[in-house]
Amino acid sequence: MDNNIAIEVKNVTMRFNMPHEKVDNIKEFFIKLLKGQLRFEEFVALDNVSLTVKKGDVVGLIGLNGSGKSTLLKVISGILKPSSGTAEISGTISPLIELGAGFDFELTTKENIFLNAAVLGFDRNFITQKYDEILDFAELRDFENVAIKNFSSGMIARLGFSIATLVKPDILIVDEILAVGDFIFQQKCEKRISELMMGGTTVLFVSHSIEQVERICKTVCWIEHGKVKMIGPAKEVTEIYKNTKA
Ligand SMILES: Nc1ncnc2c1ncn2[C@@H]1O[C@H](COP(=O)(O)OP(=O)(O)OP(=O)(O)O)[C@@H](O)[C@H]1O
Ligand SMILES: [Mg+2]
Repeated sequence: MDNNIAIEVKNVTMRFNMPHEKVDNIKEFFIKLLKGQLRFEEFVALDNVSLTVKKGDVVGLIGLNGSGKSTLLKVISGILKPSSGTAEISGTISPLIELGAGFDFELTTKENIFLNAAVLGFDRNFITQKYDEILDFAELRDFENVAIKNFSSGMIARLGFSIATLVKPDILIVDEILAVGDFIFQQKCEKRISELMMGGTTVLFVSHSIEQVERICKTVCWIEHGKVKMIGPAKEVTEIYKNTKA
Protein backbone atom coordinates (compact mmCIF):
# COMPACT_ATOMS: atom_id res chain seq x y z
CA MET A 1 0.00 0.00 0.00
CA ASP A 2 1.22 3.50 -0.87
CA ASN A 3 2.84 5.41 1.98
CA ASN A 4 0.28 8.19 2.08
CA ILE A 5 -2.76 5.89 2.05
CA ALA A 6 -4.62 5.17 5.30
CA ILE A 7 -7.46 2.96 4.03
CA GLU A 8 -7.55 0.97 0.84
CA VAL A 9 -10.71 -0.95 -0.02
CA LYS A 10 -10.47 -2.93 -3.23
CA ASN A 11 -13.42 -4.60 -4.94
CA VAL A 12 -15.11 -5.58 -1.71
CA THR A 13 -18.27 -7.64 -2.00
CA MET A 14 -20.17 -8.74 1.08
CA ARG A 15 -22.90 -11.34 0.78
CA PHE A 16 -25.19 -12.40 3.59
CA ASN A 17 -27.26 -15.55 3.56
CA MET A 18 -30.74 -14.86 4.71
CA PRO A 19 -33.17 -17.71 5.45
CA HIS A 20 -36.03 -17.71 3.02
CA GLU A 21 -38.62 -18.49 5.65
CA LYS A 22 -38.82 -18.35 9.40
CA VAL A 23 -37.43 -21.37 11.25
CA ASP A 24 -38.75 -21.58 14.79
CA ASN A 25 -36.23 -23.80 16.50
CA ILE A 26 -33.05 -25.74 16.02
CA LYS A 27 -34.91 -29.06 15.62
CA GLU A 28 -36.95 -27.68 12.77
CA PHE A 29 -33.75 -26.23 11.33
CA PHE A 30 -32.05 -29.65 11.16
CA ILE A 31 -35.14 -31.45 9.87
CA LYS A 32 -35.47 -28.92 7.08
CA LEU A 33 -31.74 -29.07 6.44
CA LEU A 34 -31.82 -32.89 6.12
CA LYS A 35 -34.86 -32.80 3.89
CA GLY A 36 -33.13 -30.21 1.75
CA GLN A 37 -35.95 -27.79 2.42
CA LEU A 38 -33.83 -25.07 3.86
CA ARG A 39 -33.56 -22.29 1.41
CA PHE A 40 -31.42 -19.23 1.71
CA GLU A 41 -31.60 -16.09 -0.21
CA GLU A 42 -28.39 -14.33 -0.87
CA PHE A 43 -28.28 -10.67 -0.01
CA VAL A 44 -25.51 -8.52 -1.41
CA ALA A 45 -24.83 -5.77 1.13
CA LEU A 46 -21.69 -4.49 -0.61
CA ASP A 47 -21.24 -4.87 -4.31
CA ASN A 48 -17.70 -4.45 -5.60
CA VAL A 49 -16.87 -1.41 -3.49
CA SER A 50 -13.51 0.32 -3.88
CA LEU A 51 -12.46 3.28 -1.79
CA THR A 52 -9.11 4.88 -1.08
CA VAL A 53 -8.67 7.26 1.82
CA LYS A 54 -5.47 9.26 2.11
CA LYS A 55 -3.78 9.79 5.46
CA GLY A 56 -5.28 12.76 7.29
CA ASP A 57 -8.41 12.87 5.15
CA VAL A 58 -11.80 13.21 6.76
CA VAL A 59 -14.35 11.29 4.76
CA GLY A 60 -18.09 11.22 5.34
CA LEU A 61 -20.12 8.19 4.35
CA ILE A 62 -23.73 8.92 3.52
CA GLY A 63 -26.61 6.86 2.19
CA LEU A 64 -30.09 5.71 3.07
CA ASN A 65 -30.85 3.10 5.76
CA GLY A 66 -29.60 -0.32 4.76
CA SER A 67 -27.35 0.96 1.96
CA GLY A 68 -24.28 -0.76 3.44
CA LYS A 69 -22.42 1.96 5.38
CA SER A 70 -22.00 0.06 8.67
CA THR A 71 -21.13 -3.11 6.78
CA LEU A 72 -18.35 -1.24 4.99
CA LEU A 73 -17.04 0.17 8.29
CA LYS A 74 -17.05 -3.32 9.80
CA VAL A 75 -15.08 -4.69 6.87
CA ILE A 76 -12.55 -1.86 7.19
CA SER A 77 -12.23 -2.44 10.95
CA GLY A 78 -11.73 -6.17 10.46
CA ILE A 79 -14.95 -7.08 12.30
CA LEU A 80 -16.35 -8.68 9.13
CA LYS A 81 -14.39 -10.60 6.54
CA PRO A 82 -15.56 -9.68 3.04
CA SER A 83 -16.88 -12.42 0.74
CA SER A 84 -14.39 -11.17 -1.82
CA GLY A 85 -12.01 -8.26 -2.22
CA THR A 86 -9.63 -6.74 0.28
CA ALA A 87 -9.57 -3.95 2.86
CA GLU A 88 -6.24 -2.74 4.15
CA ILE A 89 -5.46 -0.11 6.73
CA SER A 90 -2.27 1.50 7.86
CA GLY A 91 -1.70 2.13 11.57
CA THR A 92 -3.91 1.97 14.65
CA ILE A 93 -7.68 2.14 14.41
CA SER A 94 -10.40 3.10 16.90
CA PRO A 95 -13.71 1.82 15.63
CA LEU A 96 -16.84 3.31 17.20
CA ILE A 97 -19.41 1.31 15.36
CA GLU A 98 -21.98 -0.22 17.63
CA LEU A 99 -23.26 1.46 20.70
CA GLY A 100 -21.90 -0.38 23.72
CA ALA A 101 -19.60 -2.74 21.82
CA GLY A 102 -16.73 -3.69 24.11
CA PHE A 103 -18.74 -2.90 27.25
CA ASP A 104 -20.22 -5.25 29.82
CA PHE A 105 -23.58 -3.82 30.81
CA GLU A 106 -23.55 -5.49 34.24
CA LEU A 107 -20.35 -3.66 35.19
CA THR A 108 -19.95 -0.08 36.44
CA THR A 109 -18.57 2.90 34.53
CA LYS A 110 -15.23 2.50 36.30
CA GLU A 111 -14.98 -1.22 35.54
CA ASN A 112 -15.99 -0.65 31.93
CA ILE A 113 -13.35 2.03 31.43
CA PHE A 114 -10.68 -0.48 32.38
CA LEU A 115 -12.32 -3.28 30.41
CA ASN A 116 -12.82 -1.29 27.21
CA ALA A 117 -9.38 0.27 27.41
CA ALA A 118 -7.86 -3.20 27.74
CA VAL A 119 -9.85 -4.33 24.69
CA LEU A 120 -8.35 -1.38 22.80
CA GLY A 121 -4.89 -2.45 23.95
CA PHE A 122 -4.02 0.21 26.55
CA ASP A 123 -2.17 -0.94 29.63
CA ARG A 124 -3.54 -0.58 33.12
CA ASN A 125 -1.07 2.02 34.37
CA PHE A 126 -1.81 4.26 31.45
CA ILE A 127 -5.55 4.04 32.07
CA THR A 128 -5.10 4.72 35.76
CA GLN A 129 -3.34 7.96 34.79
CA LYS A 130 -5.98 8.89 32.24
CA TYR A 131 -8.96 7.71 34.25
CA ASP A 132 -10.12 11.13 35.45
CA GLU A 133 -9.81 12.64 32.02
CA ILE A 134 -12.00 9.89 30.52
CA LEU A 135 -14.61 10.26 33.22
CA ASP A 136 -14.71 14.04 32.96
CA PHE A 137 -14.90 14.16 29.19
CA ALA A 138 -17.83 11.74 29.32
CA GLU A 139 -19.34 13.80 32.14
CA LEU A 140 -20.06 10.66 34.11
CA ARG A 141 -18.35 11.41 37.41
CA ASP A 142 -21.61 11.10 39.33
CA PHE A 143 -22.17 7.70 37.74
CA GLU A 144 -18.74 6.24 38.37
CA ASN A 145 -20.03 3.27 40.35
CA VAL A 146 -23.32 2.71 38.58
CA ALA A 147 -23.82 -0.35 36.35
CA ILE A 148 -24.09 0.92 32.79
CA LYS A 149 -27.22 -1.14 32.10
CA ASN A 150 -28.97 1.79 33.77
CA PHE A 151 -27.54 4.30 31.31
CA SER A 152 -29.29 6.12 28.51
CA SER A 153 -27.96 5.57 24.99
CA GLY A 154 -26.39 9.03 25.09
CA MET A 155 -24.43 8.15 28.22
CA ILE A 156 -23.13 4.95 26.63
CA ALA A 157 -22.06 6.89 23.54
CA ARG A 158 -20.25 9.46 25.67
CA LEU A 159 -18.32 6.79 27.49
CA GLY A 160 -17.40 4.98 24.27
CA PHE A 161 -16.28 8.14 22.49
CA SER A 162 -14.30 9.32 25.48
CA ILE A 163 -12.29 6.08 25.67
CA ALA A 164 -11.85 5.63 21.91
CA THR A 165 -10.41 9.11 21.39
CA LEU A 166 -8.28 9.26 24.50
CA VAL A 167 -5.15 8.46 22.57
CA LYS A 168 -4.77 9.75 19.07
CA PRO A 169 -5.52 6.79 16.79
CA ASP A 170 -4.19 6.83 13.22
CA ILE A 171 -7.70 6.09 12.02
CA LEU A 172 -10.94 6.97 13.78
CA ILE A 173 -14.19 5.40 12.64
CA VAL A 174 -17.42 6.90 13.92
CA ASP A 175 -20.71 5.30 12.93
CA GLU A 176 -23.70 7.41 13.79
CA ILE A 177 -23.24 6.98 17.52
CA LEU A 178 -22.78 10.69 18.10
CA ALA A 179 -26.36 11.18 17.02
CA VAL A 180 -27.64 9.92 20.36
CA GLY A 181 -25.59 12.45 22.31
CA ASP A 182 -27.17 15.78 23.19
CA PHE A 183 -26.11 18.90 21.27
CA ILE A 184 -23.57 19.92 23.89
CA PHE A 185 -21.84 16.57 23.72
CA GLN A 186 -22.00 16.62 19.92
CA GLN A 187 -20.17 19.93 19.97
CA LYS A 188 -17.54 18.48 22.28
CA CYS A 189 -17.12 15.48 19.99
CA GLU A 190 -16.78 17.66 16.92
CA LYS A 191 -14.13 19.68 18.71
CA ARG A 192 -12.23 16.54 19.66
CA ILE A 193 -12.52 15.16 16.13
CA SER A 194 -11.11 18.47 14.83
CA GLU A 195 -8.19 18.20 17.26
CA LEU A 196 -7.49 14.66 16.09
CA MET A 197 -7.73 15.80 12.47
CA MET A 198 -5.23 18.56 13.19
CA GLY A 199 -2.93 15.91 14.62
CA GLY A 200 -3.18 13.95 11.38
CA THR A 201 -5.78 11.31 12.26
CA THR A 202 -7.73 9.93 9.33
CA VAL A 203 -11.46 9.99 10.02
CA LEU A 204 -14.26 7.98 8.46
CA PHE A 205 -17.55 9.33 9.61
CA VAL A 206 -21.12 8.13 9.09
CA SER A 207 -24.02 10.40 9.88
CA HIS A 208 -27.56 11.02 8.77
CA SER A 209 -27.05 14.65 9.72
CA ILE A 210 -25.99 16.11 6.40
CA GLU A 211 -25.23 19.40 8.14
CA GLN A 212 -22.77 17.66 10.43
CA VAL A 213 -21.17 15.85 7.51
CA GLU A 214 -20.77 19.13 5.61
CA ARG A 215 -19.26 20.76 8.69
CA ILE A 216 -16.73 18.02 9.46
CA CYS A 217 -15.83 16.29 6.19
CA LYS A 218 -13.80 17.38 3.21
CA THR A 219 -14.77 14.42 1.06
CA VAL A 220 -18.05 12.54 0.95
CA CYS A 221 -18.74 9.04 -0.33
CA TRP A 222 -22.34 8.21 -1.10
CA ILE A 223 -23.33 4.56 -0.86
CA GLU A 224 -26.49 3.32 -2.53
CA HIS A 225 -27.66 -0.30 -2.55
CA GLY A 226 -24.17 -1.47 -1.62
CA LYS A 227 -22.41 0.45 -4.37
CA VAL A 228 -20.43 3.67 -4.42
CA LYS A 229 -22.85 6.03 -6.12
CA MET A 230 -20.68 9.11 -5.95
CA ILE A 231 -17.50 10.33 -4.29
CA GLY A 232 -16.10 13.84 -4.28
CA PRO A 233 -15.92 17.19 -2.46
CA ALA A 234 -18.41 17.19 0.44
CA LYS A 235 -20.75 19.94 -0.71
CA GLU A 236 -21.00 18.66 -4.28
CA VAL A 237 -22.05 15.19 -3.20
CA THR A 238 -24.42 16.24 -0.42
CA GLU A 239 -26.23 18.71 -2.68
CA ILE A 240 -27.11 15.94 -5.11
CA TYR A 241 -27.88 13.48 -2.29
CA LYS A 242 -30.29 15.92 -0.66
CA ASN A 243 -32.26 16.08 -3.88
CA THR A 244 -32.83 12.31 -3.91
CA LYS A 245 -36.50 11.72 -4.48
CA ALA A 246 -38.46 9.23 -2.46
N1 LIG B 1 -25.21 -9.96 9.65
C1 LIG B 1 -26.08 -9.70 8.69
N2 LIG B 1 -26.87 -10.67 8.17
C2 LIG B 1 -27.74 -10.41 7.17
N3 LIG B 1 -27.92 -9.20 6.63
C3 LIG B 1 -27.18 -8.19 7.11
C4 LIG B 1 -26.23 -8.37 8.17
N4 LIG B 1 -25.64 -7.17 8.44
C5 LIG B 1 -26.21 -6.29 7.58
N5 LIG B 1 -27.12 -6.89 6.79
C6 LIG B 1 -27.92 -6.24 5.74
O1 LIG B 1 -27.07 -5.48 4.92
C7 LIG B 1 -27.71 -4.27 4.55
C8 LIG B 1 -26.82 -3.10 4.87
O2 LIG B 1 -26.80 -2.93 6.27
P1 LIG B 1 -25.96 -1.79 6.97
O3 LIG B 1 -26.10 -1.97 8.43
O4 LIG B 1 -24.57 -1.80 6.41
O5 LIG B 1 -26.71 -0.47 6.47
P2 LIG B 1 -26.44 1.04 6.85
O6 LIG B 1 -26.14 1.77 5.59
O7 LIG B 1 -25.44 1.14 7.94
O8 LIG B 1 -27.88 1.52 7.35
P3 LIG B 1 -28.32 2.54 8.52
O9 LIG B 1 -28.28 3.91 7.92
O10 LIG B 1 -29.70 2.14 8.84
O11 LIG B 1 -27.38 2.37 9.68
C9 LIG B 1 -29.05 -4.26 5.24
O12 LIG B 1 -30.04 -4.64 4.33
C10 LIG B 1 -28.92 -5.28 6.34
O13 LIG B 1 -30.13 -5.92 6.60
MG1 LIG C 1 -25.54 1.73 9.93
